[in-house]
Amino acid sequence: MRFAKLYDALIYDPKLHPERTHATLERFEEVLGIVLGGAAGSHIEKLRETMQGIAPRALLKPTHAEQILAYVDEAGIPTDQVDAMVTHLMYSEISTAEAIEMHEKYKIPVSRLEKDIVPVRGEGCWIMDTRGHWFLDMDSNYSATNLGMANAEIGRGLYNQAETLISMKEDRVQIARTRFLKEIDEMMPQGLDRFYWQNSGGEAVDKAIKLAKVHTQSRDVIAFKQGFHGRTHGAVSVTWNEKYRKPFGLHDEDWVHFAEFNDLDSVAQLMKETDAKIVILEVVQGEEAGNRPADPDFIKGLWETVHQNGGVIIDDEVQAGFGRTARKKGDWFACDAYGAVPDLMVIGKSFGGGYPVTAVVTTDAVSQSAEPGYDGSTFGGNPMAMTAALIAARQMRRLDVTGNVVTRAEQLRAGLNTLAQKYPFMEDVRGLGLMLAFSLGSADRVAQTQDLLREHGVKSSLSTGPYLRILPPTVLSKGEAAQFLTRLEAALDALT
Ligand SMILES: Cc1ncc(COP(=O)(O)O)c(C=O)c1O
Repeated sequence: MRFAKLYDALIYDPKLHPERTHATLERFEEVLGIVLGGAAGSHIEKLRETMQGIAPRALLKPTHAEQILAYVDEAGIPTDQVDAMVTHLMYSEISTAEAIEMHEKYKIPVSRLEKDIVPVRGEGCWIMDTRGHWFLDMDSNYSATNLGMANAEIGRGLYNQAETLISMKEDRVQIARTRFLKEIDEMMPQGLDRFYWQNSGGEAVDKAIKLAKVHTQSRDVIAFKQGFHGRTHGAVSVTWNEKYRKPFGLHDEDWVHFAEFNDLDSVAQLMKETDAKIVILEVVQGEEAGNRPADPDFIKGLWETVHQNGGVIIDDEVQAGFGRTARKKGDWFACDAYGAVPDLMVIGKSFGGGYPVTAVVTTDAVSQSAEPGYDGSTFGGNPMAMTAALIAARQMRRLDVTGNVVTRAEQLRAGLNTLAQKYPFMEDVRGLGLMLAFSLGSADRVAQTQDLLREHGVKSSLSTGPYLRILPPTVLSKGEAAQFLTRLEAALDALT
């Protein structure tokens, strides 16, 4: 059959691509537009005449696909353009408009639906959307895809694992996890070698708090203003911003006390006034503070104060961990960059190279306080998650992620500081490693800049007030960092 590949892109093969569905006419027309540009209009008109009676969003049938193939043949569309159509259809057989509308219709709006970019493909630090536009990724899906938005090696491992053993509960011995444990130990801060696996950052924060409560035999927790720890009941209770807690009546929890970040007196005062023996923090405050690192003296004093009082420290490294905040080669966690080891550490996001897997990691001493029956998880540390984590950890070391972060951070900081000299409204370039931010003076200006960045092919990270945050993949290259700076300058030029 001529154009057999186009047929396969329109009518899915359940053996080869069980993840797909049949294409719609609406998507085929969209793809015609992507590949043929202005010339697509007349084809779409003629095609509609040929295919009368077919609803634009109905799944095509084999006879419809044959009609399309015949049309493409008769219209004399060149083979290279047909190949390009196949490529775009394989990324999505559903139109952008339908994907957006289905999300608008079915999503519970607990968060704002982002529909400016509908991603279909990743390649290193680049993302392509349904319309065939490429964007330099300066967000890494909130720091979850630090190794890039697609990962063939993890894909191969997950395929092999899914074919042999797809799931197993947390409390049963399994081989995929054993493989992981044989390789991960040296990445963890000294003494943190007990793991409790979970599926999301918030869930792991909850479990860290539970373990800390059991260990200290106290229920009060000190968290920090501008801190962020996730959205589960426990994690959101220790998250500062009231708008995340109030709708659920969690703004008045008597076991949670908020201290000023980088202010030791404020912590000491709360430890005196309350029974709190548990302190939870992000060493670099991300979402709510706009990538604000702790002062080294604060960390040193905090560790001393909490431990002198018989307390424990939970370091939430969900966003900062796995090399993002490296000050020097080998700093896999933000606490490494400060030379401090917490009692409990929460890891997630890029732990599985983009595949969901999180954990509480702690000391033998804390771990001994737990007893069978205290907790449990069906999916925590399942074989797929452990396979992804194993491959991601190997890749991070092989690609020298921490070394790369150190040099790219220097390059970006220097470039951002130069831009700050050119634009008077730009200031306070800050952060640690590739967890960076800068102020543009107002939230409005940040929003405008993000729109302009998108026009210049850059997907920026979310903002925090006047701060624009950047969290590129930790494998960002020198050329890509330079391109970001050039594109940012063009955006800032357009703004002024
Ligand atoms: C520091 C920190 N902790 C916890 C979480 C929650 O992680 P998740 O969204 O996987 O539940 C986040 C998410 O952004 C985070 O940044």
